[in-house]
Amino acid sequence: MESLVFFGAGPSKIPDQVLERVQDELLDYGGTGVSVMEISHRSGQFQQIITDCESRLRRLLGVPDNYRVLFMQGGATGQFAAVPLNLSLTGKADYFITGTWSKKAAAEAGRFLDVQAVLPAADRFLGIAPAAQWKLRPDADYVYYCDNETVEGVEFPNVPGTGNVPLVADMSSNILTRPVDVSKFGVIFAGAQKNMGPAGTTVVIVRDDLLSRGLKMCPSVLSYSAMAKAGSLLNTPPCFNIYVTGKVLEWVEEQGGVSEMTLRSDIKSKLVYNTADSSDEFYLAPVAVDSRSRTTAQLRLGAGADLEKKFLQEAEQAGFKSLKGHRSVGGIRVALYNALTVPQIERLVAFMGAFAADNRQ
Ligand SMILES: Cc1ncc(COP(=O)(O)O)c(C=O)c1O
Repeated sequence: MESLVFFGAGPSKIPDQVLERVQDELLDYGGTGVSVMEISHRSGQFQQIITDCESRLRRLLGVPDNYRVLFMQGGATGQFAAVPLNLSLTGKADYFITGTWSKKAAAEAGRFLDVQAVLPAADRFLGIAPAAQWKLRPDADYVYYCDNETVEGVEFPNVPGTGNVPLVADMSSNILTRPVDVSKFGVIFAGAQKNMGPAGTTVVIVRDDLLSRGLKMCPSVLSYSAMAKAGSLLNTPPCFNIYVTGKVLEWVEEQGGVSEMTLRSDIKSKLVYNTADSSDEFYLAPVAVDSRSRTTAQLRLGAGADLEKKFLQEAEQAGFKSLKGHRSVGGIRVALYNALTVPQIERLVAFMGAFAADNRQ
């Protein structure tokens, strides 16, 4: 299978070394005689797994002591509800809407709070309006943004400044691909299924002082304070997923941590965007240069949808799987998550070059 390169945008590639380690331990976890999927979440073995997983994440991201790390369920979509339910104080929040996922998050929050858009309304999401156009309320309960819009390939180049208003970030599709100063945030959350493991667990990093807020109606499984009190074991967690997430984090540490992942993300994304930018508009990268995603690159073919179809077919035959853009935007999406290697992206851009040479009109 060496020649297959898998670009699934979520669920996504898990490093082969991790899958092999999981396979080795699958039938007998640590001499227990049973699979890690079968042991109790109240057992000493699982307590060790979840504690290790949290410690690794804390080390990798430099999470300060006044933040809790929670492993929750319900996916990132569950967090679209959990955030307003947990952070409401006066009942209003400001949302940056820069693509599909922040739009969905704002709509969900609107069921519970007065939500105001920070940016002018847009039909298409191809960048982030300059700060002079932002409307931020100094008395909002929090400001929300999506650090990387997976569908449109729009990534914030910097953490947006929100003064003293707590900042909430959805980092589902770029966590662990660049350094993050956690102390700038009230809450960071990320579904595991792109850069941290299989779908099923959602990492939530929340500042201690925010645990005493929220709406009474918040269900306990979505409650940050209830989860923090229970050490993420309020109910049966997705034990296997947390175990694999721990293995992925171990792999990231072995590879050189977030600094090495940052370096690789920069190299991989530059390879793709440089190929597009130097293709004489055979390939187009429509997102504004300063907010082009380093983890989910959006590309179009200048000649249109028919040639895109041919590109995707030939790419598939050449072993490049799942390059099709999200159904809502079409085109090509190159997922460049941590498990994708630089040599694999070099192979892809070589294929892109050859395809352009053969199909230029
Ligand atoms: C940035 C971002 N936020 C939220 C979601 C929704 O995640 P989930 O399917 O885990 O609810 C996704 C899914 O791809 C995403 O990419």
